[in-house]
Amino acid sequence: MTAMYMGDQLGFALYWLAQNPELYERVTAEADALWAEGDPSEDDFSRDRIDVTHRVLMEALRMSPIVPMSMRTVMNTCVVEGFELPVGAQIVIAQTATHYSEEAFPDPWTFDIDRYVPPRNEHKSRGYAPFGLGTHSCLGSRWADLHIVINLLMLTHYFKIELARPYKRLPMDPLPSQSPSNKLKIRLAEQRHEIRT
Ligand code: HEM
Repeated sequence: MTAMYMGDQLGFALYWLAQNPELYERVTAEADALWAEGDPSEDDFSRDRIDVTHRVLMEALRMSPIVPMSMRTVMNTCVVEGFELPVGAQIVIAQTATHYSEEAFPDPWTFDIDRYVPPRNEHKSRGYAPFGLGTHSCLGSRWADLHIVINLLMLTHYFKIELARPYKRLPMDPLPSQSPSNKLKIRLAEQRHEIRT
């Protein structure tokens, strides 16, 4: 399941990267700098050296989260925003609905990685929840972040990747979790470096 999550979120991030050529170039520059003297070691992946790539992933997680909602069973009757939730009720919590709120993310339908630099820091609002919220938020979030970032860096270092055709909207399947649909096609336009084994 988590492997599927990782691949699907990587697919979404790749789509947004290919849609934004200027960002694609900046990520490629980070990758080329990291691989300039052969394979980087774990210490090389410091936050400043993966800054753009990491913010591309953060914005892909906002625009196209693979887990947009969670299902819960109410254990104690309670009132939320004036609605009584009776014990035993099954509820759906759309924790990423706020990702498209103008209040938390101005101009929410624009892919903008500068949301995550000071003073904007929009990810620090409670509206940013690609890994859930509260006690049971994702235990693998930091691991997932790092691995998807490394995958994006490796893909851009070794290949030039393009969308096979222009897309007005990201083709996605909503269930069982959100994923790029088979209609989304990419093309390896160029192999930029030899893959050392
Ligand atoms: C892009 C990748 C991933 C996303 C977007 C993601 C997202 C989520 C979300 C939304 C939840 C539910 C939080 C809630 O119910 O409030 C969750 C739970 C969880 N995730 Fe992830 N996840 C990802 C990858 C991973 C990976 C790679 C691992 C393990 C290595 C992992 C381990 C877990 C665990 C153990 C929980 C349950 C935590 C608990 O119930 O206390 N996740 N994840």
